Amino acid sequence: MQQEETTRLIEEWTQVHGRTRDRLLPLLHMLQEEIGFVDDAAIPAIAAALNLSRADVHGVVTFYHDFRRTPAGRHVVKLCRAESCQARGGAAMERAAADRLGVAMGETRRDGQVTLEPVYCLGLCAIGPNALVDGRPVARIDAAALDRIAQEIAA
Ligand code: FES
Repeated sequence: MQQEETTRLIEEWTQVHGRTRDRLLPLLHMLQEEIGFVDDAAIPAIAAALNLSRADVHGVVTFYHDFRRTPAGRHVVKLCRAESCQARGGAAMERAAADRLGVAMGETRRDGQVTLEPVYCLGLCAIGPNALVDGRPVARIDAAALDRIAQEIAA
């Protein structure tokens, strides 16, 4: 079912946008937006559509952190791992987030409620450490903010 949907989306999209190799990133972004992730099962269809090798497609999907390879949880918490946020206590906030949310970095909690992911600079460097919670920026994240986020997710 999922694979049929993926194949249909690829076919429709390439009819409009073309099948050249330079279409790979836009096609991956479209799939991520429509389906929510780009899993291994989609790679052969993408490769065939753009006349690329499966290794080429796999390499791109795994290189870019933005492409999710499994479905996300209902809520997505992203913590900034870039330099300024790290200098402002980002690593400690990462440990605290994993503890309070009950999920390791890069994972989705077993109940599917929350995914914890890294992000690399949100452009708010001077007021870090920073997070994105379901797309909403949260600056100067601290233990109290993490407690509030954990309560929101549990509600
Ligand atoms: S380094 Fe975290 S927002 Fe820029």
